[in-house]
Amino acid sequence: MKEFLTAGGPQLSRIVAGAWRWKLPVPEIDRLVHAALEAGISSFDHADIYGDYANEELFGKVLKGNPSLRNRMELVTKCGIKLISKSRPTHRIKHYDTSKEHIILSVENSLKNLGTDRLDVLLIHRPDPLMNPEEVAEAFRLLQESGKVLYFGVSNFSGTKFEMLQRYVPFPLVTNQVEISLFNNKALFDGTVDTLLTHQVSPMAWSPLGGGKYFTASGQSEATEKELESVAAKYTCTVSQLLLAWLLCHPARLFPILGTTNAGRIKEGAGAIDVTLDRQDWFAMLKAVAGNDVA
Ligand SMILES: NC(=O)c1ccc[n+]([C@@H]2O[C@H](COP(=O)([O-])OP(=O)(O)OC[C@H]3O[C@@H](n4cnc5c(N)ncnc54)[C@H](OP(=O)(O)O)[C@@H]3O)[C@@H](O)[C@H]2O)c1
Repeated sequence: MKEFLTAGGPQLSRIVAGAWRWKLPVPEIDRLVHAALEAGISSFDHADIYGDYANEELFGKVLKGNPSLRNRMELVTKCGIKLISKSRPTHRIKHYDTSKEHIILSVENSLKNLGTDRLDVLLIHRPDPLMNPEEVAEAFRLLQESGKVLYFGVSNFSGTKFEMLQRYVPFPLVTNQVEISLFNNKALFDGTVDTLLTHQVSPMAWSPLGGGKYFTASGQSEATEKELESVAAKYTCTVSQLLLAWLLCHPARLFPILGTTNAGRIKEGAGAIDVTLDRQDWFAMLKAVAGNDVA
């Protein structure tokens, strides 16, 4: 199930498990990690700030309890957002920091919290209006030289910003992690994904199920639900699998990141790999959400 994010870059499982919502007791995280690995999901997405700076450490407790797990997985984490938090008393306002010092310090913290000697991929979490690309490039170079981070990318960057940073970084950026789902498909139309196709770099897709809103009582119209359920029935899959298959068949080779905290749904998500959508059903799903045909 592993595939290259870009030629010569890291190989991640095509479906990734995201730890944003994993502020859970350690045995539960342990169960989710094992469910993911058993389902062929070997890549885990983190950020320093997840769980108000707690989730990396909770996940790290699982690795510390069973160190052999580390070599069976790939770890992605992010840096660059500073939250107001009891654990960060010097932060007066939520802000971004992509200074060389902060990037390096954040990686040191993530390594310590996750209980590992290396990160497979480090992402700049959000575009920082004060980002100095020379400093970012220098931080990346130092982290790569020391072996602390193997590959680098960005998140929530526009195509233009991705290309701008790439001009300064002395090796290929390996991904841009952006929000993409049937319900929020802007990145497929506004050039973000086109830029990645130009560079032959795969996007990672966050909130691939739209953050789960679809599954709530008021999360979708009756017509949308009816249409998606009828397409799912045709492929004998669940609506979750259908929503993931909608992403997986895109030629940009998206890597959806599941956000579930439920071991059964991790297994279900992994099963989406076996669903191959027909082009007309792809457009039928788009219409079910947009409410109209394409032009
Ligand atoms: N780079 C960024 O800026 C950024 C931003 C946001 C997220 N992310 C990454 O993307 C990952 C995924 O984001 P996400 O959590 O929003 O993804 P998601 O998979 O779209 O949404 C997950 C939510 O949907 C619910 N859900 C899923 N299937 C369901 C079902 N069949 N019935 C009912 N509820 C269901 C889950 O609840 P249960 O837990 O109960 O299953 C969970 O609350 C995060 O963990 C993080 O790693 C990155």
